[in-house]
Order: sequence, then C-alpha cells, then structure tokens
Amino acid sequence: MSTIDKTQQDAEKRVAALEAVKLIKNGDVVGLGTGTTATFAIEEIGKQVAKGLKITAAASSKRTEDLAKSYGIQMLDLQTLGSIDISIDGADEFTESLNLIKGGGGALFREKIIASLSKNRIIVTDASKKVAQLGAFKVPIEVIPLALQYVMDQVAKLNGTSTLRLLNQKPFITDNGNFIIDADFGLIAQAEHLAEALNQIDGLLAHGLFIGLTNKVIMAGGNGVVVFE
Ligand code: 5RP
Repeated sequence: MSTIDKTQQDAEKRVAALEAVKLIKNGDVVGLGTGTTATFAIEEIGKQVAKGLKITAAASSKRTEDLAKSYGIQMLDLQTLGSIDISIDGADEFTESLNLIKGGGGALFREKIIASLSKNRIIVTDASKKVAQLGAFKVPIEVIPLALQYVMDQVAKLNGTSTLRLLNQKPFITDNGNFIIDADFGLIAQAEHLAEALNQIDGLLAHGLFIGLTNKVIMAGGNGVVVFE
C-alpha cells in the first residue's frame, strides 16, 4: 500500500471511529478493541472523558489497557465483568451479513469475550475491509502451544493451510501466552460451518471468525460513512 493509500485509509478509520464514539452514553461500560482503528476510538473516548464523559471500560489487550489508562479512562477487570453496554472494535474483513474476520493484531480471544459480553457491538472500519466473501485475509487462530501440531493437523483436515505467526523470527506470543496460526482456507463459502468445525478442535482457544457477534459496522470510505446493521 502506498503512503497516500495508507493516509487515506487512516483518515477513513478515524472518521468511522469518531462516529462510533458518538454512540457512547454517560454511565456506559465500554469494551475497547485492539488495532489502529480501535486506537482512534480510544483516543476520542479519552478526549470525551477529559471533557466530562463518565464511563468505565474493559480492554481487549494489554496495549489497549495501557493506552486507555494513559488517557485517564477508568478500567475494569474483564474477569469479573458480567455485561458490557457497548464495544467498539476494528475488523480485518466484514461482509454485509455482519460476519467478520478478526485477529490481525492477535487479540482475538479477548476481543471475542468482549463482543460476547456486549449488548451493542460496534465494528469500525475503512472501506478496504468490506468483502463479498470472507477468506482473502487468513483466519487467525489462537492455539495453546502444546497443541500446535494437533491443531494444525485438524485445520488441514478442514482444507486449511496453517502458518505459525512470527515476530522477530520467533513465535508471536499472545497476551494469554499462546501461539497464533494464520489459516488459509481460501474464500470461505460457509463461514458459520467453518466456525462451528473450528470450535470443536481441542487446544484451539479461539478463532478469528466472528459470526453473529456484531450489531453494526460503521464503515468510512471515499463517499462518507455507511452503516451496515
Ligand atoms: C486485532 C483485530 C483488529 O481489530 C483488526 O486486526 C483490524 O486492525 P486495524 O484496525 O489495525 O486495521 O482484530 O486483533
């Protein structure tokens, strides 16, 4: 992607994020996503908190937690939370039926818990994330390390090709101490079925197919903001 494209993409991410933050009300418990788009939302929430907005929040990753705290946002422990009013997160791909691939940043497990706890699940994206069919972006899968080969073999039985995610030539380690494999299934004809099949694999903590976990996608593009719900 060229610098101009990246600048345009960041501008779209910011517009979508700011639109989502308008949905937050005083007193809300807010679920905070991870990634560059979620970061624009967190920065805006921080500004609103400085102006008097009263909210508490739960983070989907350590880096989000640190960022939110740096803006003076009062953080809650996800472990003891029974419900979240609204969550704002990004996505790697979404369809008009509001199915997603997430986990490009490796935070998919906590992001899924936050989405599952949330009454109002908002996804914010730039226009490049909209697809007719999921699967051009590989499906991130968080794996308990000792089950790595087993999970890769089960993914292969589902016609997926696994690549262990690396960082500085070493396995990428999630906030939960696990590995990520990025699984290429090609274009996914039936995302619900694949998600169900992946759910059955022991040692697989979470996969990046988010099915039925989104109420609204706010997408900003060249023609302004489009909302899918
Ligand atoms: C992190 C995620 C992100 O929401 C996703 O990767 C999109 O990231 P970005 O907003 O940086 O494009 O799922 O695990």
